[in-house]
Amino acid sequence: MAKGKIKALFVVGTRPDAIKTAPVVIEFLAHADLCETILISTGQHREMLDQALAAFGLKVDADLALMKHGQTLAELTAGMLAGLDSVLADAAPDVVFAQGDTTTTFAAGLTSFYRSLPFAHIEAGLRTPTVWNPFPEEFNRRAVGLVAALHFPPTPWAAENLLREGAAPESVFVTGNTGIDAVQIVSKGKEQTWFPEHKGRVVLLTTHRRENWGEPQKAIALAARSIVGENPDVLLVVPMHKNPIVREVLHSVLGGAERVELIEPPDYEDFVKLMERCDLILTDSGGVQEEAPSLGKPVLVLRDTTERPEGVEAGTAKLVGTDRYAIMEEANRLLRSTEHYTKMAKAVSPYGDGRAAQRIRYATLQHFGVESPEEAMWG
Ligand code: UD1
Ligand code: UDP
Repeated sequence: MAKGKIKALFVVGTRPDAIKTAPVVIEFLAHADLCETILISTGQHREMLDQALAAFGLKVDADLALMKHGQTLAELTAGMLAGLDSVLADAAPDVVFAQGDTTTTFAAGLTSFYRSLPFAHIEAGLRTPTVWNPFPEEFNRRAVGLVAALHFPPTPWAAENLLREGAAPESVFVTGNTGIDAVQIVSKGKEQTWFPEHKGRVVLLTTHRRENWGEPQKAIALAARSIVGENPDVLLVVPMHKNPIVREVLHSVLGGAERVELIEPPDYEDFVKLMERCDLILTDSGGVQEEAPSLGKPVLVLRDTTERPEGVEAGTAKLVGTDRYAIMEEANRLLRSTEHYTKMAKAVSPYGDGRAAQRIRYATLQHFGVESPEEAMWG
């Protein structure tokens, strides 16, 4: 049915939700004649969500404020289902958007399904071979994939996963990852201010994944400490996730060590500058795995599986797992062999070209029969 204007409701809750949804919200806001835009937060994260939204100058229309220290995934999900259900009832949107694989995304998809509202999935189709890893994200993204009316996979590989699972081809649009749009938005024009006094190399470490809590995270931190010890020009920088479980391990293994900076999570603009400043990235983050290749930074992925094989295929990322000695060996190889380092440190962008949000806006408006200005968004 042709329409003059649609009402689009976006749901965010975590730091990556905010960063990857922001470019699409900005794009929809720029077309206010064609769509009304509502931004809702579940408040799954607090400080980390607020700083991510602030980087894009976005404010939410409503906030369920659900973050509590130590709550279980079921408690968090239950709060979201109840809260989002009444938000959707009041707003009566034409389409509900969420990105990726967080609890917020799962709850947005399920609540939309229960209300028979079209759900649009940004960063659709990423898959690992097992629903248990990453936990619980692999389940979340598969579950919302079942009910999505519009799927926006970032890459052809992700689109193939969806088609294999039976998604209707006319509902699947390869757009690139909106995270690459986000990097491009914030990296314009900001000065480099990280560690001007340090003349050697910088290694950046981030770790927070649930499946790495406990022993794997301890092994990661021990490996990082050894890498600093064995490479006297290296400064290790560790922006610590706000989760107390993660911080405790990082403090206990790395606190007070020489040439180790344990820092509060920088806001997104500063974090991008920090990635630009560093020579090597060790991470279990999904978003960082996507951003690093576009900045030409080698990444060692501290996980046993990845739903982002494109970086590995492009040669800028390597899956090393969480074994202490395997991490040390790979990092030392990169830090000691120029040939090996140069091979991995190439700027490629297998995840997007910075126009994902435009494509998502265009495909969505087309889907609802709204006349939209651009054509030829693909190719
Ligand atoms: C969540 C996502 C994960 C994503 C990560 C990004 C799920 C199941 N997991 O994991 O996919 O990679 O966010 O960072 O959705 N906390 C604060 N302040 C904050 C944020 C978190 O104090 O701003 C603490 C709280 O104690 C909170 C805990 O961290 O309970 C964990 O947060 P939660 O959202 O449950 O999971 P994450 O591990 O952050
Ligand atoms: N990020 C940030 N500050 C930090 C660490 C990460 O702004 O201290 C950004 C990062 O650039 C990426 C996103 O947060 O865009 C990734 O978030 P996170 O690693 O928490 O989640 P994941 O991507 O693993 O779901």
